[in-house]
Amino acid sequence: MGREYKIGVIKGDGIGPEIVEEAIRVLDAVSVRCGFNLKYEEFLLGGAAIDETGVPLPDKTLKGVAKCDAVLFGAIGGPKWDNLERHLRPETGLLGLRKAMGTFANLRPAMVYKELVNASTLKPSVVEGVDLMVVRELIGGIYFGEPRALLEDRAYNTMVYTKDEVRRIAKVAFEIAMKRNKRVCSVDKANVLEVSQLWRETVEEVAKDYPKVELSHMYVDNAAMQLIRAPKQFDVILTGNIFGDILSDAASMLSGSIGLLPSASIGSGVGLFEPIHGSAPDIAGQGIANPIATIASASMMLRYALNEIEAAKKIDSAIAKVLSEGYRTGDLSSFDAKEICATSDMGALIADYASR
Ligand code: IPM
Ligand code: MN
Repeated sequence: MGREYKIGVIKGDGIGPEIVEEAIRVLDAVSVRCGFNLKYEEFLLGGAAIDETGVPLPDKTLKGVAKCDAVLFGAIGGPKWDNLERHLRPETGLLGLRKAMGTFANLRPAMVYKELVNASTLKPSVVEGVDLMVVRELIGGIYFGEPRALLEDRAYNTMVYTKDEVRRIAKVAFEIAMKRNKRVCSVDKANVLEVSQLWRETVEEVAKDYPKVELSHMYVDNAAMQLIRAPKQFDVILTGNIFGDILSDAASMLSGSIGLLPSASIGSGVGLFEPIHGSAPDIAGQGIANPIATIASASMMLRYALNEIEAAKKIDSAIAKVLSEGYRTGDLSSFDAKEICATSDMGALIADYASR
């Protein structure tokens, strides 16, 4: 018997189904080529789950994903569900899933494909060669802190981190830095927030176990500025949930399109692999979305969850090759495009190259 893996598939809302289908097409191609077998099982989450079952995170999804080797996810949300009460919103489903799966570490690489240096809104000299990794804490901080409430004329959320939570995400960042350029920049707001002070002290403690890694600290406002001023200074950015959410969107623009960037959410159990972008309801169903972020997320899944490194590399080089040949989806159409592709054409091209 060859290697066989069970992949949970959550297509979600908006462009989710279109982009996930292309990622599966690429996974099928590369798995045949590399001699392993993938079995897929679909689960509902977000708006699609609300429409079908009345809740954004059905029990069946929760129980089902626990039995998978990894989960590939598209995107959730859309105007249709925007006015629901918070506990019924699609986003609440995603946050609940992350929490239940224990995926505390969200890895969000931002790199600039050399063929696309002109696609960024920043000067080519600023973005050329950017290759950084945002390590975002994903199941703590202000997203989950208690107490929280929406009252008549007052509302509040709480940013909480325990030392254990900071330690475990810091370790992930240092381990990743050891395999990269051995630099960690921890981003916080320690000049104002107690929670950031604890964060900083704890990161310092963890750093002692990684003498080869150079640690620096940066306030989040400065980090936002530095990402745009001189992004090449960064190797690994270690930060909390909400700062990581914001900084990773900013970092995505270095690459030229948020439609390019993948992510891996990992912890001690099953990992969740998803593009960093949303469900883009404005272009859903038109077949024009960029599937590359999801295809690259599938590659991260092969690398981090299944240890199928050769297959992951094949996908990564197929993406680079297709871009270098001038194939572009609409989001990148004005940048050295030889041919504008539909979502499915882009998927087919990448699948073809990845299977060689
Ligand atoms: C992301 C998204 C989510 C987040 C939303 C959809 C809950 O913006 O994955 O970055 O804030 O984490
Ligand atoms: Mn976000």
